[in-house]
Amino acid sequence: MAFPIHRMRRLRASAELRSLVRETELNPGDCIFPLFIVPGEDVKKEIGSMPGNYQMSIDVAVRECEEIHSLGIAGIILFGIPPAKDEEASGGYHEHGIVQEAVRAIKHGVPKLLTITDVCNCEYTSHGHCGKIIDNDVDNDITLGWLTRSAVSHARAGADIVAPSDMMDGRVAAIRKGLDEAGFPKVPILSYAAKYASAFYGPFREAAESAPQFGDRRSYQMDPANGREAMREIELDLEEGADMIMVKPAGPYLDIIRMARDRFDVPLAAYQVSGEFSMIMAAARNGWIDLDRTILESLTSIRRAGADFVLTYFAKDVARLAG
Ligand code: PBG
Repeated sequence: MAFPIHRMRRLRASAELRSLVRETELNPGDCIFPLFIVPGEDVKKEIGSMPGNYQMSIDVAVRECEEIHSLGIAGIILFGIPPAKDEEASGGYHEHGIVQEAVRAIKHGVPKLLTITDVCNCEYTSHGHCGKIIDNDVDNDITLGWLTRSAVSHARAGADIVAPSDMMDGRVAAIRKGLDEAGFPKVPILSYAAKYASAFYGPFREAAESAPQFGDRRSYQMDPANGREAMREIELDLEEGADMIMVKPAGPYLDIIRMARDRFDVPLAAYQVSGEFSMIMAAARNGWIDLDRTILESLTSIRRAGADFVLTYFAKDVARLAG
């Protein structure tokens, strides 16, 4: 028997009732905040296409991390912009590279803040691609060596979690083996398992100075048209030893998050990427949408779709709005 016996509006009548029956929670403890680290001291340079986000030097980042930790945000993910880039991405796996030194300083200053490192080469190569270029394409198997060295050097610096984002085949197995052999069997791998070749990374490439100098990333990142293939990517990464998996971007890929949630019983992350952030900011700055409500709705939807935690440039706003 439907209406008038059933009235769905009954449980929406007050804030208290709505709160009682709310299905999805969003807390700063579910959020990871991305940081962009540059050489130098006392550097804090706003990223034009990402208002309120900065390239910062290590000293500034440590102070920032104190604040992030005090807000109850779960952790950070670090991206590095090295002093110099080369063909071989050597800044990415240097023992004293920018990210390695940032990890040391942050873990020293704010030991309890979960520190994740993005493991990729695109910020470190002069051509902006995610690995070794041979015949105009990224060579998969040579690149695995660079990624493994990066991950091990991050672990040696004290990273809590390493997160490969390159989309080379076999990288999780290679990194797991490298970590274990180097004496880091306890460092977990958060795999960017279903990472799409997305236009929504545009602002990030300004932030990380990592736009490819020729071509694009479609020979290694996934085709946005494919969903089943994402399940296969995840399955393979789990077989190779991934501890947690990620879907990226998040908002335009809620169906993929849901499919992954239904199929795999491992912690699932989603990355609300730079373009998602910038679109919301731009519309809000024009007065076209309400910033705070849109932040909460976009992130709650990502959680509702099935993500356990979210990498988001709005992490501090979550602390302000939902903490
Ligand atoms: C590195 C990497 C990228 C992002 C995270 N890790 C850029 C890319 O693949 O081009 C994008 C994150 C964002 O847009 O916020 N490969």
